[in-house]
Amino acid sequence: MTEVSLRRFSAGCNPDGSADAQTLAWLQSKALGFLADPPSPEHAARTVESFRQDARVLTAIHDHSAHPPGWGPDRPVATYATLRKSLNVGAGRTVPAQLVADVTVLPTHRGQGLLRRMVLEDLRQAAADGVPVAALYAADAGLYGRYGFGPATRTLQVEVDVRRVTFTSPPTGTVAVADPDVLCELVPLVYDEFHRATIGSVQRLWSHAPKVCGLWAEDAPDRDPAVRGAVHFGENGDPDGYVTFKFLGWQQRPLKIEIVDIVALSTDAHLGLWGFLTSHTQADLIRHGHLAPDDPLPWALTDRRAVRVVGEQDGLWLRVLDPEVCLRERLQDVTGDPITLRVRDELEFCDGAYRIVPGGDGVQVTRVDPDGPVDATLDVSALASAFLGGYPAATLERAGRIQCTSPAVAARLGLLFGSIRAPYNDTHF
Ligand SMILES: CC(C)(COP(=O)(O)OP(=O)(O)OC[C@H]1O[C@@H](n2cnc3c(N)ncnc32)[C@H](O)[C@@H]1OP(=O)(O)O)[C@@H](O)C(=O)NCCC(=O)NCCS
Repeated sequence: MTEVSLRRFSAGCNPDGSADAQTLAWLQSKALGFLADPPSPEHAARTVESFRQDARVLTAIHDHSAHPPGWGPDRPVATYATLRKSLNVGAGRTVPAQLVADVTVLPTHRGQGLLRRMVLEDLRQAAADGVPVAALYAADAGLYGRYGFGPATRTLQVEVDVRRVTFTSPPTGTVAVADPDVLCELVPLVYDEFHRATIGSVQRLWSHAPKVCGLWAEDAPDRDPAVRGAVHFGENGDPDGYVTFKFLGWQQRPLKIEIVDIVALSTDAHLGLWGFLTSHTQADLIRHGHLAPDDPLPWALTDRRAVRVVGEQDGLWLRVLDPEVCLRERLQDVTGDPITLRVRDELEFCDGAYRIVPGGDGVQVTRVDPDGPVDATLDVSALASAFLGGYPAATLERAGRIQCTSPAVAARLGLLFGSIRAPYNDTHF
């Protein structure tokens, strides 16, 4: 019989800057959980610095019955981490989000409810602190629905055939090659502006800039010399986008360039950077793992089949914790008749009915009697999927994930949650 305890703590370091014992043990356990190499002392120290910059809270579960020659009770058998950043919910509005990362349970302790224990404890804490939504990336689509998470954004993996690319009209602005070390300074500035303008986007972590420039990251301890960079300048001469990318080598055929990160503040900048990438005629294909589903690129080419979709991923998963705050911020500008949603939540954070009343001064969202009349009933995970407009409410309704009193209500929900631009997040954590 295992005897376990759960602890939450902040990453710490010794006076010489090295990771302290509990943080190092946590990092070692996490590395094993993801079948990654154990961290070197230097990498652990930088990781602590990065965790502290983002105020990441670490959760560890220890098994007190563990004994030598196996790992002792000082090494966690499960890891979990959270940090708080903002989520763009449309029209430039953001809400605080609890980002969940580093979820592992050692193979010796799986299937004993440790993940459930960590998730529940964390969601309760976030809700108690007034954080209205949690977010994560799911390694497996079957894992997190039971806790009320639902996929909220989508991305496409594409391969662009360099030789088939001709733009219908040449992209404007100019592009200059930039060293990754120099570009690293610009990356957070451009991303912050992109985040403010992009529905579905999550504010970036401290380590993203060095990561996308190939310099360092928690999951990439060594500099990657293959990463190259370029910056786009708009008509006024200001930088308004960047790309980092790497050539995957002469051995692989077809020859490929992979985009590490591409962020642009305008369509001109976006297409200009794609124009720069596809000017690499030494390569056959440009590969991108995170194209927005409504990216204009195919439509800006004379041959839209130059962009071949080779995969699709559900991106960001959300878990609504406070529907009043989430719905109010998301639906601030909607008009039309009031509508009442019955949200079912087994974990009880959101269980109830919510009346949404559009008005001149913004929308009012209030809790009403759950046994009273409602227009639609949905599970909290379906609310997460519909929330940003990433998955049409009508599709969820047809799948039985939303029950509406009439087809008109389903259509109205689609309009309420629909978004002109597909929600998009390229901040991975
Ligand atoms: C995923 C992982 C954390 C699950 O840990 P765990 O302690 O075994 O999970 P729990 O015992 O709390 O199980 C929770 C539920 O998830 C289910 N589950 C576990 N792994 C699953 C998977 N990969 N896919 C779908 N469901 C899964 C369990 O069957 C259980 O279902 P139940 O509530 O109906 O009984 C663990 O398998 C792991 O560390 N995997 C490798 C690292 C990883 O992929 N982490 C996730 C990153 S997002």
